[in-house]
Amino acid sequence: MSNDSLLPDGMARHSVRASQVEMTELVLPNDTNQLGNLLGGRLMHMMDIAMAIAAARHSGLVCVTASVDRIDFHHPIRLGQVVVLRSSVNRVFRTSMEVGVKVYCEDIRQGTRTHTNSAYMTFVGLNENGVPTPSSQVITETEDEHRRFREALERRERRVGTGRMTDDR
Ligand SMILES: CC(C)(COP(=O)(O)OP(=O)(O)OC[C@H]1O[C@@H](n2cnc3c(N)ncnc32)[C@H](O)[C@@H]1OP(=O)(O)O)[C@@H](O)C(=O)NCCC(=O)NCCS
Repeated sequence: MSNDSLLPDGMARHSVRASQVEMTELVLPNDTNQLGNLLGGRLMHMMDIAMAIAAARHSGLVCVTASVDRIDFHHPIRLGQVVVLRSSVNRVFRTSMEVGVKVYCEDIRQGTRTHTNSAYMTFVGLNENGVPTPSSQVITETEDEHRRFREALERRERRVGTGRMTDDR
């Protein structure tokens, strides 16, 4: 049995791209309310999973959700639509990291895709004894990744304060 690397050739282990997650789900009747719209709690569960996988891929650790920033629901997602979640690690602080997610719904019959939600959550990587454990910093490559990295520090300041953390890498 072969044991192939998860990374495409030439991709840096700690680049943002290397741990990005795209998760695709179909909205089924059990996921919806009486109006046939996806339940908010069900969507938050999907977001949590997509983001936890990105955090775990980046750190190689089991990652737990430490906090969830505000989540707004701008558009209903309907029964039978497809939900696409894209998550990536924006910045590592020490043992914690900010992960962002963008959610889209796809109407397969109409061939349209609508951006419905974005959110940030903080995950903490734990070792096998359940102790918070530092991870390597992400390597940002694109303009969007550089911007998210910078803005993540401002968001952390609002969440928990930065302590001694500066923008130097
Ligand atoms: C998150 C958790 C591991 C933090 O443990 P702790 O003993 O407070 O550890 P520390 O004080 O060393 O903090 C560890 C990191 O978490 C961060 N952190 C803790 N609480 C946080 C919060 N509410 N929001 C954002 N970051 C937080 C700290 O800033 C620190 O980050 P850093 O190392 O990058 O500077 C612990 O509170 C826990 O296990 N919570 C439950 C997690 C869980 O079960 N999640 C599922 C929710 S149902």
